[in-house]
Amino acid sequence: MQDDQNGFQFQEVNREVSQLLDQYIRNSRIGKTPVLKQQTPETIAEKLKLESNFIKGFSSIEDIKSFILNYLDNTNHLRNPRYMGHQVAVPQDLSGIPDWIHGSINNPSSLYEMGPAGATLEAYMINWMLSQLGWFKGDNLYDFKLHENSGSGILTHGGSIANLSALSAARAAIAPEAWTEGSPKDLVVMGPRTSHYSIARAISIMGMGKNAFVPVPVDENEVLVTSALEEVYQEQIKQGKRVMAVVANACATSTGLFDDLEATADFCERHKLWYHVDGAHGAVALLSKTDKEKVRGIERADSLIWDAHKMMRVPALCTAVLYKNYNSQVNSFQQKGSYVFHEGDVIGMDSMPFTVECTKSALGTKLYWSFALEGEKAISNFVSNSFQMARELYHYLNNHPDFYCPYFPESNILCFQYRPDLISDQQQLELRYQLIETGDFYITSCEVDGKRFLRTVLMNPLSQEKDFIAMAEKIKTIAHRIIENSKE
Ligand SMILES: Cc1ncc(COP(=O)(O)O)c(C=O)c1O
Repeated sequence: MQDDQNGFQFQEVNREVSQLLDQYIRNSRIGKTPVLKQQTPETIAEKLKLESNFIKGFSSIEDIKSFILNYLDNTNHLRNPRYMGHQVAVPQDLSGIPDWIHGSINNPSSLYEMGPAGATLEAYMINWMLSQLGWFKGDNLYDFKLHENSGSGILTHGGSIANLSALSAARAAIAPEAWTEGSPKDLVVMGPRTSHYSIARAISIMGMGKNAFVPVPVDENEVLVTSALEEVYQEQIKQGKRVMAVVANACATSTGLFDDLEATADFCERHKLWYHVDGAHGAVALLSKTDKEKVRGIERADSLIWDAHKMMRVPALCTAVLYKNYNSQVNSFQQKGSYVFHEGDVIGMDSMPFTVECTKSALGTKLYWSFALEGEKAISNFVSNSFQMARELYHYLNNHPDFYCPYFPESNILCFQYRPDLISDQQQLELRYQLIETGDFYITSCEVDGKRFLRTVLMNPLSQEKDFIAMAEKIKTIAHRIIENSKE
């Protein structure tokens, strides 16, 4: 088959790309390439010959290969076992295939007619996720009809859009007129100060103003103090406010610690408040035999978001927004588009009426694929093992005289400091920059309770104790240098 651009042969190009990716994966896995080699954008632009390729197009297969090689060279090598950075999935080796198919056929899944297979996979995976929560009431997972007494959900492009979707549904429940008349001024959302910034952003985007977010106190590890919920609520009532939703973290972005979902559910139930759980990272604990307890009470939420591109090995982006009651989803966006939204009996189902996006990619396909590659059990084992790895890192660092861990990890995220008695917050940050500049490790950093920490997120199933030891040693060497330099 010959493509319509510059005579490139489909199979030949794909074979070459496949070989380059194969090499990339192999080298990353054995740590032969740096995790990250940071170069300036100007250097990268030159190496990729951006201008000439853009104007003239690739003129040979060699051009394509050189472009891809340079592209891959300037990436963050997530498959390197010493990648312990952001909450971004380390995909399985064959995870890219659905994106490859999607890129080749371009079937958006939001309209059934535009991609029946993709839409079916999305609906199947939503049913499966709902069934993990006990919210699925169909006969079997092939039951794709919306049932009055059942939960429902959609896949969307990322946790931020997902939080916006869920909060929009929460507002539709308490103030359905907001869609046409604008947001009533008396609505507020309560949640821990450490809610992901996309919550505050969603509130502002919805025209409620960021002050409509009412922070509930958190403890020294930034976990919601559930005993404070009542007082904060009563204060809002006194001020004439209506609480549109209460948000809980499962788990918090910085620390990976879980709010008490059961106690928050009790509170919401008592006052008949919409309960939204941000489970972008940690809802996946539902799948783990060893760690399921962390999300006890999650099934009592009215809405939940759950990222598959964090802990389910799915390439970005793919997030589920799930509702316990299907009416919540139906009311979330009250808009009609005559060319797309059908009423009455048509074959299949369209997720478009319920999403922020109009067109969206085949998200269900890559989510399904991640399970189909290894079977359902492999993903739940992956979750348990990742959480276990964080516990192992904790034990190692906590027994090391030079490191301080403020809490026992509850997920695969762990924050720590190198000798806080010797090193300032600013120097912890400098330590992290110098560490990643070596190309040997990739970790992140965050503030917890106003103090700067180094932060690891253990996403890579290949990371081992020897990597933790090597990281600790490297940090020690760099820290000594920083301390010495600061004396000069
Ligand atoms: C708790 C939480 N919610 C929401 C998000 C946003 O998700 P996304 O990056 O998919 O937009 C994140 C991202 O880290 C998160 O940790």
